[in-house]
Parts: sequence; structure tokens; C-alpha cells
Amino acid sequence: MFTRRQILTTAAATPLVGAPAIAKAQSWFAGYPFALGVTSGDPAPDGFVIWTKLAPKPFEPHGGMPMVPLPVKWEVAGDDRFKIIVASGEATARPELGHSVHVEVAGLQPDRPYWYRFSLGSDQSARGRARTLPLASASPAALKFGVAGCQNYEDGLFTAFRHLAREEDIAFVYHYGDFIYEYKQRGPDYDKDSLPVDQVRHHIGQDCFDVGDYRLRYAQYLSDYDLQAARAQHTWFPTFDDHEVENNWVGDFDWKDVPAEVFRLRRQAGLQVWYEYMPVRAAMLPRNGIITNAYREARFGDLLSIDFLDTRSFRSDQPCDDGFKPYCPGIGDSKAQVISAEEESWLLRNLARKQTSWNCIAQQVMMMSLDRRRYDDEKEKIYNLDSWAGYDVPRDRLLARMRGLTNVVVLTGDEHQNFAGLLESQGKPVAVEFVSTSISSGGDGSDLRKGSDVMLKNNPELKFVNDQRGYLVCEITPDAWTTHFRVVDQVSVAGGSISTRASMTVARGEPSLQIA
Ligand SMILES: [Fe+2]
Repeated sequence: MFTRRQILTTAAATPLVGAPAIAKAQSWFAGYPFALGVTSGDPAPDGFVIWTKLAPKPFEPHGGMPMVPLPVKWEVAGDDRFKIIVASGEATARPELGHSVHVEVAGLQPDRPYWYRFSLGSDQSARGRARTLPLASASPAALKFGVAGCQNYEDGLFTAFRHLAREEDIAFVYHYGDFIYEYKQRGPDYDKDSLPVDQVRHHIGQDCFDVGDYRLRYAQYLSDYDLQAARAQHTWFPTFDDHEVENNWVGDFDWKDVPAEVFRLRRQAGLQVWYEYMPVRAAMLPRNGIITNAYREARFGDLLSIDFLDTRSFRSDQPCDDGFKPYCPGIGDSKAQVISAEEESWLLRNLARKQTSWNCIAQQVMMMSLDRRRYDDEKEKIYNLDSWAGYDVPRDRLLARMRGLTNVVVLTGDEHQNFAGLLESQGKPVAVEFVSTSISSGGDGSDLRKGSDVMLKNNPELKFVNDQRGYLVCEITPDAWTTHFRVVDQVSVAGGSISTRASMTVARGEPSLQIA
């Protein structure tokens, strides 16, 4: 173990990696301290956040780190060989934040790629690539970005992330949450003949409750190099959904009816560790146990505005004890909310601004209120009460404000299936919703889940369903928005191949879908 004095003395005496004296420098750790990789996020026209976390022994308590703050050097270059260093400095990795490093780099040029890396002693991180946004005053001709999330480690390999890493000209990736799943290793799955089969991989550790549990879980997920590749290659807008804390939590409520003041402690631990592992700005550090401003916006010139929602932290409890159920009066609760009052006024204000060709709402749970029946003999309509369908009044209020806007596209996750359809207000389409599947949650899947034909028949606004794993690539011009549903053929074994299952286009000016 190092004393603080020894560490700081060593740090002061250690030259930058790449300098001639490097051969003499010593690694301070028994393991490689950058084993969990690097990433970048929350880009602006003049910069972005670059991230790493020191963990020489990722699965040991505190990642094998001494409990002292350590100085980590960082560099941002204009070229991938680091010949032209445009920014550099030193950041402190603190034990309070699990020795994570979040650097908010500023002063860069808009709309271009940069490369970054970290070093400590003689150890150097992998190289990451990041991209700034164009200026708000710019008029980009086109934009391409990715949408991904829901990555249960036990359900499958992260092959889709490696394919996402290889997608070219991606400006950024929106992550809709479920970065981890909080469960301990579960019992067997069952194959099509109802025989028990093992999971593809196993979670280490118990159900996550405290900071140490969540840190270990993220460390396990980030030990996957497919995920590291996608994180290093692209710049992310991360958001969280339920599994960063607990299945289907909302506000102060968890599904086990734990007293609110007790549940808040678990939520605080989950959100702290989410912050530690995500390339987000210090403004999103949890305060008093909650992230008050996880909702935020980004502009891509005059082409696209995106409003990223937080549909968990301030939501009213799910009606009728949650689940997939027939209508109950709680769905019509006039006081219910999916997002906070502040978040709703911010969103409605942003939608009304009309400064960009497209308005995108990037959020977690499905906004279409679909009839979820999967069998012809089911009598009553079924609702997913953990989605906007469980909250009629705030849902109607938001959709009503989209009337007259002809450029709104909603991006969603959570469902572990691909969906595309129309959002309607008073029977008329007002926006298009694309629901992205999962990276691995749900396992291999198949083109259509049993009963999807019944769903398509019962919901005329629903235009497309698919039950394979993958992610979305959206390509946007001022006149058209095209979403490509990228799917992998398998996640249970390595080497799954990627293909485009469907491409759908929305013409600006009319909320409708053309399927290619
Ligand atoms: Fe999920």
C-alpha cells in the first residue's frame, strides 16, 4: 500500500508517457489501472467530457486502488497519432467517486473528431475518439447517430456493441439506459422444449444494494471489450432507466414496497455509481440522493434538437400495482406525472421553439399506448403500466402539444423489441416513435415474438415489430429522417453478424412512416 506522500512524490517525479524518460518510469500497480477503458460524452460545440476510472484489479474492493486521491494526466489531440496535442491537463481521481475521472474539455473546434488518452505513471489508457457538435448557428446537410441500451450481461454477448463501434460517421450515440442489470446470477433459462439451459454468462455478486455492489457490477460489464470498443469509438449521451437502480422503480417507489426513506438510500447508491461510470458533466452529480437535472438538451445546428428525458426520478407510482393489466381507474389519475413539472415545462417550451428542422424526444419508456394482447381469446385490452400508457393525463397533455408540429420524432428503449409506429392525439398522428431493441437483453430472439401478429392487428398505429437484438442508426437531412433497425443474428455465441432488418423514413411535414 502506498502512503499519500509516496504517491504524490511519485506522481510529481513521473514524466508524461511518451517522454524519453518513460522507460525508467514504474507502473504503480500490480494490474493495469485503465482496465475498464475510456469513453467520451455530453458533447458541445466546443468540447465534451472524457472519462476513465482507475481499477488495476476491477473485481476487488475499490478496484484494487489505495484509498487516496491520485493525479491522472490527460491529453486531447487533433490527430489519432497524438502529434498535435490541443489540450492537456491533470485531473484528480478520488476514492469518494471510485477513482473515476471526468474531464470537461472546452475550447475545441466544432463538428470534428478528436482523440484522447489518459496516463498515470508508466501506464497509459487506450485511445478514445470523441466528436464535438456543430455550432447552433450551423446548417449541417446531414447527421447520422446511434441509439442503444438494455445490455443484460447474462442474456447475451455484446456483439452488437462491436458492430456499433464499427459504424462510420456516427456523430454521437444516445443510450436509453439499462447499462447494467442489478440482479444476482439467476436460475436456469428454458429452451423451446422447456428444458433447463444455462445463461450465456453469469453475474458476479449478489443483487446490487450498496455502492460496492453497483461498482462491481459496472466493472464486470466494462470488462467486456465489445462494450469498451463502442465506448472508446463514439461520444455518448447517457441516460438511465430502471435497472441502474432496481427493476421498475419510479420516484421514491420500488416494487417491493420498501419504505420510501429506505429505498432512497439504494437509489442514491445506484445513481452515484451510474454517475461515476458515465461520461457526464459535474452538473449531473447526484445531490441529496437524486440527480435533479438528468434531463437536458443538445442542438445539432439548425438540423436537430434533442431533449433527453428522465422518466424515472419524478414519476408517480405505477397505477394498479404495475404490470401488464387491463384498464384501471389509476391510469386516468389527473395528478399523475411521468416527468417532473419543471421538466415538462422545459420540454413543452423546447418543442414550441421551432429552431431546427427536427425535434427529437429521446427517452426511456414507450409513448405509444398499445393494446398488449397476444392471444385472440383475451377479452380485455391490456396496458403496459410501466410505460406512458399507464399515465393517460400527462401523456395526452404532451401529445396535444405536438398537434400542429410536423417534425417530432420520439426515440425509446426499454421494450427489448424493435417497434415503429405513430403517436396520435384525438385520433390524428402527431409524431413518429421508434423503439430500439436491446443489445443483449432477451437473448437471441427471432424475427417475431409469439403473438406479435395479434398486436399488429389490434394496433393500427403500430407499423413494425421485430424481436432481434441490435441498435438503431438514424440518418437525418432537413427533409427526411431515416431510421435503420440494425440487428445481430445471434448473441448466445460469438461472431454474430449484423444486418439491417428494416429502414423507415419520415418526411418532414407529415408524421407518417415509409418502410423501405
Ligand atoms: Fe432493459
